[in-house]
Amino acid sequence: MAVKPPPDRLYGRQRSHPLRPRQQRLLDVTLPRLRFAADAAGTPAAGFGRPPSQLWLEVGFGGGEHALAQHAANPEVGLVACEVFENGLCSLLSRLVPDGEEDTAPVPDLLRVWDDDARVLLRALPDTSLDRLFLLFPDPWPKARHAKRRFVHPETVGLVARVLKPGAVWRVASDDPTYQAWVEEVMRAQDAFVISPPATVRPEGWPPTRYEAKALAAGRQPLYWSFIRRTG
Ligand SMILES: C[S@@+](CC[C@H](N)C(=O)[O-])C[C@H]1O[C@@H](n2cnc3c(N)ncnc32)[C@H](O)[C@@H]1O
Repeated sequence: MAVKPPPDRLYGRQRSHPLRPRQQRLLDVTLPRLRFAADAAGTPAAGFGRPPSQLWLEVGFGGGEHALAQHAANPEVGLVACEVFENGLCSLLSRLVPDGEEDTAPVPDLLRVWDDDARVLLRALPDTSLDRLFLLFPDPWPKARHAKRRFVHPETVGLVARVLKPGAVWRVASDDPTYQAWVEEVMRAQDAFVISPPATVRPEGWPPTRYEAKALAAGRQPLYWSFIRRTG
């Protein structure tokens, strides 16, 4: 496929309004208690409070609704939730620790936060270490000249393929027609994943996100893909 290599830097907002004191405290005090340590990436089970049964990763969790719902429904799975937007990080952290208990409230053993570019973590993980990956409503970058910024990109697909176990699922959702066509084009050009037509209704065991709710309210049709990592 003719697309420029993905830039190493991130585009899109990482900050918006000045943070309120509670938000600042969540970032200063709670985030370090939940941060997935970069030096655990080589042996990811070591990055959790106890050994996980599987390792799942969510890229760009937004407000954290999906990550928290998956964690609640799959309490033995180790989930690393990645997000770089400060308000998103605060949103997830605020649901985990009550106001005034940012440094004392117990934090989950098997939920960890990666507050940097998810691609940095993907590069650091061992081959076939991930059991599941979620990419829900990624920034669409609809202009053709911004295609290289899209997370679904031939190079990033290779990165994802390397870390997923054979048979593991990569879930992708998008409501943007340009991105939907792009996902089809990129995934048809690779052979690491088995592809099948996307669902038009969110499948079972796939909790909703805030962005999806906005898309549905605006009358946009999300598509939901489940790509299966090929064996061998
Ligand atoms: C459109 S929002 C969707 C949020 C959420 N998944 C939802 O469905 O509500 C995309 C999010 O991905 C985050 N993001 C984009 N690229 C990322 C990357 N490389 N690593 C981690 N987060 C990323 C952005 O900060 C943004 O919050």
